[in-house]
Formats: sequence, structure tokens, C-alpha cells
Amino acid sequence: MNERAVFATRFGAIATTVGSAVGLGNIWRFPYEAGVHGGGAFMICYLIFVFLIGVPLLCAEFCMGRGTRSNIFGAYRKLGGGRIARVAGPLGIVASLLILSFYSVVAGWTVEYCISSATGSLDFSNTTAGHGQFVDLTTGWRPMIWTIIFLFINFMILICGVTKGIERASNILMPLLFLLLVAFCINSFFMPGFADGINFLFTPDFSKISSSVLLGAMGQAFFSLSLGLGCMMTYGSYFNDRNRLGRTAATTAILDSMVAILAGVIIFPAVFSFDLSPEAGPTLVFEVLPYIFNQLPGGMIWSTLFFLLLFLASLTSTVSMSEISITYFCEEKHMTRRNATILSSVIALVGGVLCAMSFGPLSDFTIFGMTIFSLFDYLSSNICLPIGGFICSLFVGWWVDKKFLRDQLTDFGKFRFPLYRPLLLCLRWLCPAAIFLIFLNSIGLL
Ligand code: PFF
Repeated sequence: MNERAVFATRFGAIATTVGSAVGLGNIWRFPYEAGVHGGGAFMICYLIFVFLIGVPLLCAEFCMGRGTRSNIFGAYRKLGGGRIARVAGPLGIVASLLILSFYSVVAGWTVEYCISSATGSLDFSNTTAGHGQFVDLTTGWRPMIWTIIFLFINFMILICGVTKGIERASNILMPLLFLLLVAFCINSFFMPGFADGINFLFTPDFSKISSSVLLGAMGQAFFSLSLGLGCMMTYGSYFNDRNRLGRTAATTAILDSMVAILAGVIIFPAVFSFDLSPEAGPTLVFEVLPYIFNQLPGGMIWSTLFFLLLFLASLTSTVSMSEISITYFCEEKHMTRRNATILSSVIALVGGVLCAMSFGPLSDFTIFGMTIFSLFDYLSSNICLPIGGFICSLFVGWWVDKKFLRDQLTDFGKFRFPLYRPLLLCLRWLCPAAIFLIFLNSIGLL
């Protein structure tokens, strides 16, 4: 994407931002995290974090991006935080590459499932088949090959500069994915486990709130909103001057949470209907969804369409996260865009292959009790992104000139932004304090 490009319309800006936010994080990661962390308790914490930490931070990243028309490094530097850029920048790059690595593995599964659905080779007719089929499809060399293929497609899109094409396609395909999710939700209503599933997801059992639930929910909010690593800053730098940043932030958060909730409403009734365990972890959605398709008339078509759209949703997210390291290598290390894209892709390829092997030959290799796949996920979502958000909220809340912030939020006084004071309060106190306390809590110091 050309750094000085500007989205022509408000719709284009929102669609692209939502395109980055909506992806596997909503449909794959949210249900599995909610399943592992007790359902309702996780859900309520997640929503609180999205709206009390996520939306203010989205505003902060958008302001920094649009006000400086720069990537994460340039944005901090132009606003007088040259030293901070040297911490926040590399942290964002590392996080984006870690995420790209494990994300590509899961995106590779979507390609595999899409092709298996289209060729009719998916069989989920009984309750042991779901897991067995997943193991068949994701062990050995196959996931590695799909990861490599996915990263290659991502690479070609970036190198051929057809990002715009992907964005235009996603303007049509994302609403289609949304409609498909609504249709599956209606189908959930007729499942025998509907009441149990909904209960699990929406009834908060406050006794289940623990440090790991809080950390997991915060990590999920950051991951899902693509926050804390400079992605939304870069996208903010493409917004035109008439974009109402506060509204764009709120719209992104609302749509993103809606997709996650829809995914939960689809998955959990099926989990309870088919007597599966909500705590299956990263494999949950891939083991459960095919049962649902099997129940539907024309299941093969639904399944193919769904995995195809999920694959495209993953691509709009990986393209956005790749931009972070590419712009860094171009602007800070003075590489050509082509070389920068090759370097980022090679790093992600090495990481991706290691993550893919976590489900096969390296499944017994663990660090801190986690496989490489889970470690990359945990380190990026639960550690790097919240630290990035912590730095950003303090920087914008305390350091950045308040006139700059006000001008960005009101388009130089052209319209009102009535939530300026609450926003500042969140950025100065609430976000940093919440992130800090959750970290202390999770390392046992609170
Ligand atoms: N928000 C994306 C999702 O929920 O799938 C994942 C993501 C995209 C994370 C871009 C980080 C990022 F920079």
C-alpha cells in the first residue's frame, strides 16, 4: 500500500479497518479462548476491555496515524517521542511477525478445509470423526505445506501491489460473511444444545474470573482490534481529513465484537448438542463447525463458502499485519519494498513452519509448558500487544500536545467530540492502570 494514499470515502476507511480487525481472531480465537476461560465470565471481561480500553486506544492510534501520516516509528518520532519509538516500534514489529507466523497456520487450515469441503472429502458424521479428521488434516507435513501456500499468496498480494483489489473484494465479501454467520446463528437456535450453549456464553459466573481470564480477555481484545502494534496507526495514516475518528473507532469495535459474539452463538450450541468439550483449545472451531455443516441441507456448499470467506477474511488481516514490518524495513532500514516484503515473508515462513510443526513432529516440544504455536500466540497477544497499548495510552494521554489531539478528534473544530474528557481520562489513567494491574495480577504480585 502506498504510504501517502488516502481512503477516498468514509465507507472505504471503515471497511478496510474492519477488514483488518475481523478475521480468525473473531471466528477462531474468540470461541476457543471463551471456551477455555469459562464462557460468560470471559465474555463480560472481553466486552469491558473492548469498550473501555480498546475504543480509547483505537482513537489514540488513529489520531497518531492521521495526524502524522506515518507508520508507528514516524508517528512517535514526529510527535516528539523518538526514544519511545525505539521501544514501541520493534515491539510492534516482533508482535506482528509472531502473529503472522501462527495466524498463517490457522489460515492454512481454512484453505485445507475449504478444498476438502469442495471435493466432498470432509466426513463428520459421528462425534469421533470431527477430532480424527482434524488430526488427519493437521498433522504430518500437510499443515506446513498449507502454511507455506498461504504465506505465498499473502506475499504475492503484497508484492504485486493488489492490496487495493483485495480491499475492494472484501467490501463485498465481508458483508457476505456476516450474512452467512447470521444464517448459521438462526440454525443454532434449532439445535438441542442451544439453551446450554447460550447459557455458557452469556451467563457470567463471577467466581470464574481469575488472573488468567483477565489476561486472556485483555489479550483477545487487543488481538481482535489489531491494537498495540501500530497496525491501526498505519491505517489511520490513510484516513482523509473528514473522517470522524471517534465514530470510526466505535463502529470498528461494535462490528468486530458482533462478529465474535455471532461466532460464539454458532459454536457453543453445537458444542453442547454434540457432547463436545468447550475447552478443546485452538482446534475447537475446526472440530465443531463441520458437524454443523453436516446437519444442513447442502452442507458441502455451505462449508466450502464459509471456509472460502474465512480464508479471505484472514488475508485482509495478514496483509494489514505484514504492512507493519514492511514499512519498517523500507523506511528505517532503507530497503526496497520488494526486499522488505521478501524479508518479512521469510521470517514469517520460518516461524510459520515451526508453529505448524507444533501440531505434528514438535507437539511434545514445549517452552514454559506451551507448544511453539501457543507460545507465539501467548507472547504476542497477552504480552507484546498490551505493552504496546500501555506505551501508546501514556504517550497520547500525557505527552502529546492536547491541541493536536483535540484537532484530530474534531477535525480542527469542524465538529464536536463530546467525549474528549472521558477519552483523556481513559488514556491517562484507566488504560495504563488496567493493563499494569492485570500484568501484576498475572505474575502473582497482586
Ligand atoms: N484482528 C485480526 C483478527 O481478529 O483476526 C488479527 C490481527 C490483524 C492482529 C492485524 C494484529 C494485526 F496487526
